[in-house]
Amino acid sequence: MKNQIISIEAMEILDSRGNPTIRTRVSLENGVCGVSSVPSGASTGENEALELRDGDKKRYGGKGVLNAVDNVNSKIAPELLGMTPDKQDEIDRMMLELDDTSTKSNLGANAILSVSMAASVAAAMSQKVPLYVYLGRVSELRLPVPMMNIINGGEHADNSVDLQEFMIIPSGASSFREALRYGAETFHALKKILQSKGYATSVGDEGGFAPNLESNEEACEVIIEAIQLAGYEPGKEIFMAIDAAASSFCNQGSYIFQKSGSGTKSSTDMMEFYGSLVENYPIVSIEDPMDENDWEGFSAITKKLGDKIQIVGDDLFVTNTDFVSKGISKKAANAVLIKLNQIGTVSETLATIRLCQKAGWNYIISHRSGETEDTFMADFAVAMAGGQIKTGSASRSERIAKYNRLLEIESEIGESANFSI
Ligand code: PGA
Ligand code: ZN
Repeated sequence: MKNQIISIEAMEILDSRGNPTIRTRVSLENGVCGVSSVPSGASTGENEALELRDGDKKRYGGKGVLNAVDNVNSKIAPELLGMTPDKQDEIDRMMLELDDTSTKSNLGANAILSVSMAASVAAAMSQKVPLYVYLGRVSELRLPVPMMNIINGGEHADNSVDLQEFMIIPSGASSFREALRYGAETFHALKKILQSKGYATSVGDEGGFAPNLESNEEACEVIIEAIQLAGYEPGKEIFMAIDAAASSFCNQGSYIFQKSGSGTKSSTDMMEFYGSLVENYPIVSIEDPMDENDWEGFSAITKKLGDKIQIVGDDLFVTNTDFVSKGISKKAANAVLIKLNQIGTVSETLATIRLCQKAGWNYIISHRSGETEDTFMADFAVAMAGGQIKTGSASRSERIAKYNRLLEIESEIGESANFSI
């Protein structure tokens, strides 16, 4: 049976915040149909590919995506009909040519990515292999360790915590299934501790708690307590990670710790601050420690801490080979956060990952704070074999959907499942 694309249809759906996003269905002549939905960020990097929103205030406060839907249905679809979905590079290249901008602002990165991912899904189904096998043919398969964001601060919470995310990494576990259990148990232990201290235990966008803690250090303290209450050893079985998202509290080169009331800091002060956190807590990874334009600050902190811990660029690199190349030559980090929708196609994301592999840098496959039930990124993480995934806490179904998919994959791969970082 033929596997040519016979139709591509997009529709407007809602993400986990109740904002519109796009879902696309790529149908083949052989009856196969690949579906994919794109996520959406809140604390986005300045240089991300453009997410096309309608701007019509009468619908969803301007956040509708009907123009992006129309771009898929009436502009992209006619160009791709008759192609086979396994020609990922060609499909993506044709969409880039049709868009003809560096930021995908004509068609929208959301429109383009939905087609790019749905084509992969259709190709895997057509070849009757799981998506992780289809995507991973050039690399070994590997289950990732979860980086679970259990306390929220920064722009994601109304508290006195300046840093955006405090994560746990259960890398002392022997398998993904066990790591997830360690993480979920710690999440529940943390809830008990927060309750006993009289803090709120409602969860934020990524499923972590957002208690009104007094300081950044208190966030670290309660996490250590939670790890211990759950019966694990901090720094042996469970480690910690931070996403400072420093662009969100940087103004003209100064870092303003307004929420905790601890004043304004220079890049050098920030290095001291992170240095003392790393000394006092089992922190093995810091993401966006500096502002996305502070390349010197990034290079300096990588020089200071990069041989001990992972320094991750998210807003700094926006999953873009140009920025990652610059980062490699400036030694501005040693790891890259990978978000498919920051760049907007599967093949460009693969190029960024290849660049990381060549440089010997780590890479982490990541969700966005606005997600859907789509599990593409779970398969993608296993296929890319980078060993790490960032997809939220142990709550909220759009986060759990990815974890459940990873459990499924682990049980399919069975004995050969490789889990380590
Ligand atoms: P997002 O960011 O809100 O842009 O998805 C989360 C992050 O900074 O990693
Ligand atoms: Zn980030």
